[in-house]
Amino acid sequence: MRLALDVDSLDEIAERIKYFMDVKSPQGLLDKIKMLPMLAEMGKFFPKTVSTGPCKEIIRRGNFSLDWFPILQCWPKDAGRFITLPCVVTRDPKTGKRNVGMYRMQVYDGHTTGMHWQRQKVGAEHYREALRNASVETLLRNVSEPPQETQQAASLRVDLMARSSGGSVLADGTPPGKMEVAVAIGTDPAITFSAIVPAPPDVEEYLIAGFLRQKPVELVKCETVDLEVPASSEIVLEGHVHLDELRSEGPFGDHTGFYSLEDLYPVFHLSCITHRKDPIYSTTIVGKPPMEDGWMGKAVERIFLPLMKLTIPEMVDINLPIEGVFHNLMIVSIKKSYPGQARKVMNAIWSLGQAMFTKCIIVVDEDVNVQDIGEVTLKVLNHIDPERDIQFTLGPVDSLDHASRLPNYGSKMGIDATRKWSSEGFARPWPDEILMDQKTKALVDKKWKELGID
Ligand SMILES: Cc1cc2nc3c(=O)[nH]c(=O)nc-3n(C[C@H](O)[C@H](O)[C@H](O)COP(=O)(O)O)c2cc1C
Repeated sequence: MRLALDVDSLDEIAERIKYFMDVKSPQGLLDKIKMLPMLAEMGKFFPKTVSTGPCKEIIRRGNFSLDWFPILQCWPKDAGRFITLPCVVTRDPKTGKRNVGMYRMQVYDGHTTGMHWQRQKVGAEHYREALRNASVETLLRNVSEPPQETQQAASLRVDLMARSSGGSVLADGTPPGKMEVAVAIGTDPAITFSAIVPAPPDVEEYLIAGFLRQKPVELVKCETVDLEVPASSEIVLEGHVHLDELRSEGPFGDHTGFYSLEDLYPVFHLSCITHRKDPIYSTTIVGKPPMEDGWMGKAVERIFLPLMKLTIPEMVDINLPIEGVFHNLMIVSIKKSYPGQARKVMNAIWSLGQAMFTKCIIVVDEDVNVQDIGEVTLKVLNHIDPERDIQFTLGPVDSLDHASRLPNYGSKMGIDATRKWSSEGFARPWPDEILMDQKTKALVDKKWKELGID
């Protein structure tokens, strides 16, 4: 990830974020002048549209097939071959804002794939927005009696039923029944990474990539859809998702270490493929951790810490252990200043973008090194009275959670492993941690040489 993002340490990026967040209103002319270099630097982050680029070297509108690319079936029980590293571009039908998200795509044939945007993701919200605008009759034709009534199909039907009538043309002028999608494969790693970062929906991923690379992402217009893709992409797939069509997707050997189960998802119909002359197909294999996506997640952890601190200022550090597959476990250290603060932090995390999926949150005091799992285990288990310190809550859970009572909905657990205070009703004395004093340490250190031990 350091190579991909061209830094010696991921903390460099976190430091840059902090630098930009530290902007105070300028007090006078001198302050304003001092801000000019920062403003000039910020200007570099915005994407710019160029007339053409390497991804347009070959343009195939009719004669194309996905079979040309070495798309992998990764695991024995996968439903087929999956595009696993796609940057999926959609536009909010209401606001016109673009989104780039990474959602796997199961290849059905040379021209169609699945579109696995999970229910709470931005691509899925664009799809729902398009559904809200489309004609009810068209939509109910196919969706009202899906072959297999799954949770997603049921919720989709509820969405459709609840929708008010009228408005059969989408706000962006697209005819009802379709939503435009473009998929860039083999992008600059900063762009690929920006497609996975859990940014707020209104922050455009191309801007994030520009910030990471410190130069604007160059975009080109697609041939058959009104969307823009990175000019330097190796391969671009253009097409539509039909609003009245769902198809079985999965199983797929997922990053949880288990197969994610078959469910109904929209279908992507390709209208055009453009690519470089000799394109390189990028892919990744997810599976039992640690795999490549684990390191992508770790980079997200480091880079997002300063942003999380904006809303949770008492947060000192976090660790999302790779085996916790990012949505299952977050260990957080905090500077505790008032009773009940650990629970406030849990609730704040459960309401913070995709951190809402976190199944278990462990909150410790600031003196615990959350990166040291041994220390965390020792202190957490010593410090808790389970019945008192464990908090359960209900809410949205990750679509990949196969244990929750319902798909996308279930319980979450927080453990308050901070020292308990009398103001929290703890009447007993709290013991000191065993630490050797400096004088004795120095005395022993001096003796190693005398004893001939290096
Ligand atoms: C390799 C890889 C594959 C992923 N596949 C999916 C997927 O199939 N569906 C999904 O909803 N999220 C998937 N994700 C996670 C999303 O990319 C991530 O949640 C992202 O923030 C979504 O973007 P959005 O907030 O713009 O919707 C994947 C992430 C990685 C690293």
